[in-house]
Amino acid sequence: MITIKSEREIELMREAGALVAKTLDLLEKEIKPGMTTKELDTMAEEFIRDNHAVPSFLNYVPKSDPDVTPYPATLCVSINEEVVHGVPSIKRIVKEGDIVSVDCGVYKGGYHGDAARTFVLGIIDEKVQQLVDVTSECLERGIAMAVEGNRLHDISSAIEDYARSFRFSVIENMVGHGIGSELHEDPAVPNYGRKHTGVKLVEGMTLAIEPMIALGRSRRAISRRGGWVAVTEDGKPSAHFEHTIVVRQGKAEVLTRSFLD
Ligand code: MF3
Ligand code: CO
Repeated sequence: MITIKSEREIELMREAGALVAKTLDLLEKEIKPGMTTKELDTMAEEFIRDNHAVPSFLNYVPKSDPDVTPYPATLCVSINEEVVHGVPSIKRIVKEGDIVSVDCGVYKGGYHGDAARTFVLGIIDEKVQQLVDVTSECLERGIAMAVEGNRLHDISSAIEDYARSFRFSVIENMVGHGIGSELHEDPAVPNYGRKHTGVKLVEGMTLAIEPMIALGRSRRAISRRGGWVAVTEDGKPSAHFEHTIVVRQGKAEVLTRSFLD
């Protein structure tokens, strides 16, 4: 069931979203080669708790898979061929030339915000830089379609078409989602699909749109060693950007926009 949020609920989601954005802004300023992914996680958790909120991902158990080990961290930090759900570790050190996808969710005032950015460390391969830029633009093109009167897969097809125009591959088995008092609500928001199909978008729907795009051929992210992390099938790098948005008339409202410059 897709829930339509009231303006009062959206006001609370705006606060949760702003805190997600500020957390990612902090990480964007602080991330440096030589840091462990655990240090990033600790920094984020302290910042979120200092701001009277709770990390959404910590101890998360998917409703579809209640036997899985609860997610053990505040952030997902996924490096290079890792698509999503990289678990922070004192053994993982980020280095120059890496792309580092950081996904963050917070729960505040009864509502969740969820966003991700892929950070680039130092000078990286030109093609990989293009992948990151194109994935960010895929998200913007998806958001541009999130207006009342359009259909859900207008978002999906805008993302897919832009990624494919660069011959990049869309990860199909991981999707965006509705969001609100639950981290994952209906509808699923795929990053591929046929335009003019899917449910009609209505003002007050709140969605987490999150393209995951890879170099190479992989259309799936597969779990590595039975753990949380999901990687490309061919080991090629993957990028991930996400915003929490409100469907509006005319233009979507983005709740997790960066405050930097
Ligand atoms: N943004 C991701 C998602 O919405 C992150 C979830 S991590 C998890 O699925 F631990 F909560 F699963
Ligand atoms: Co999400």
